[in-house]
Amino acid sequence: MTSKTEEQRTLFQAVLMLIGLSLWVIAVTLIRFIFIDKIDLDYAYLTYIAISVGFFFLIDGLMLYMYYVLQFNELKPKEQLAIVFIIGFTYTICLYLALISVYIMPIFLCALILAQLGQRSKAQFSNFLTMIFITYALMIHSLLTGESLLPVLVMMVSGLLCGGLSSIAISKDSSRLMFMWKSALICVTSIGTMAILSLILLDESFIDNLIYMCLSAAINFAFGLILSPLVERIFNLITNARLMELTSHNSPLISRLLKEAPGTFNHSLAVASFAEMCAANIGENPYLARACAYYHDVGKLANPLYFKENQSDYNPHDDILPEVSADILRSHTSEGLRLCKENHIPEEISHVTIQHHGTMLIPVFYFKAQKLTDGTVDPAGYCYHGETPKTKLAALVMICDSSEAAIRAMDKPDGDKVDKLLRKLIYDRLERGQFDDCKITMRELSIIRETIINAYGGLFHKRLQYPEGK
Ligand SMILES: [Fe+2]
Ligand SMILES: [Fe+2]
Repeated sequence: MTSKTEEQRTLFQAVLMLIGLSLWVIAVTLIRFIFIDKIDLDYAYLTYIAISVGFFFLIDGLMLYMYYVLQFNELKPKEQLAIVFIIGFTYTICLYLALISVYIMPIFLCALILAQLGQRSKAQFSNFLTMIFITYALMIHSLLTGESLLPVLVMMVSGLLCGGLSSIAISKDSSRLMFMWKSALICVTSIGTMAILSLILLDESFIDNLIYMCLSAAINFAFGLILSPLVERIFNLITNARLMELTSHNSPLISRLLKEAPGTFNHSLAVASFAEMCAANIGENPYLARACAYYHDVGKLANPLYFKENQSDYNPHDDILPEVSADILRSHTSEGLRLCKENHIPEEISHVTIQHHGTMLIPVFYFKAQKLTDGTVDPAGYCYHGETPKTKLAALVMICDSSEAAIRAMDKPDGDKVDKLLRKLIYDRLERGQFDDCKITMRELSIIRETIINAYGGLFHKRLQYPEGK
């Protein structure tokens, strides 16, 4: 649950970011008007500047209001920073490219990038905000220089329309290729819109304007394509394209898992199949769930042979004390987090490595120790030292992980047996407070259980034996 001080801190960060954005917008606008347009600082101009400053802070108020309406407070600080960065960037290049022609402005760039980052409602809002900033700056410019306001109007209508279209069309499940196709289509639509509007409203050379419009669309397309992965990396954000790259078998940690701990790799694939289905059924991002499952056990790379799934005949735990075994086992959670940080894996994935066992007991070595010491063993010494799940996805991976291992170990699993096993498994974790720090509901826990029951048959199916000698 979000505490009052945490909420205040998030609000303070938002206010700071918005003041920063406003100061940036005012600075780049003034630089253009004073040093490039060389407009005299007369009384009228100073009044416009004063109105601008007031206007920007009014917009900030609106943004703060939207911050809560659109639940911006659910966004992580890095995501908020990315949005502010993109709005500031788009505004700046629009303002300076407008020196050539108002039609050359990549006006819906902001929406294009943000929609690719999976922030649809935020993309619409940010595009709207960018349009207001740009329209206002151009209006001041037109009023000061006595130019017609109609081109600004054409640009604004087209920008709002195509920006809105971008944020709807570039959906969450787009791959980079789909993003290319969709953004190309939106660029063509923007040229069409601007062309029709300028034909109706303007009395200027249509061919010249058309060339500028095509140039604008090309800039939108190119910047959108280059900036999305760049913004992802700078702010370590998650997009579905990035998730696909992270779960590729060629990504460094996954390829190490495949070569150095093939048993763990196969286990992770099976957990990922469960996690993906469960996430889709409880309304969470299935691609992110799959990535979390792929990385949950990367910490086993430090000692792959100490984990059952990578052993053949020899079990090194037979030769060591149970407390040493427990230490090796629980170290895979902290080691996983360390490896993820070293490889710049986004925290939405890396936190699952430290949380997927929570603070549960390691029963095998606890009972082994009990046998060796005649039953006087402190269970605290045989528990994982990680954190309990903080997100629904971490809780989901925790259940899928233990279910996969338990069903695999079962002799002739059937629907009833698996149902009983999963109920016990979830109940044990509930009883030990493993889900106390995340927002998962009882209904979602039973959806996860039902999903696994329906899916395990396909995952652990038996093959008919081939007749010998044929
Ligand atoms: Fe694990
Ligand atoms: Fe695991």
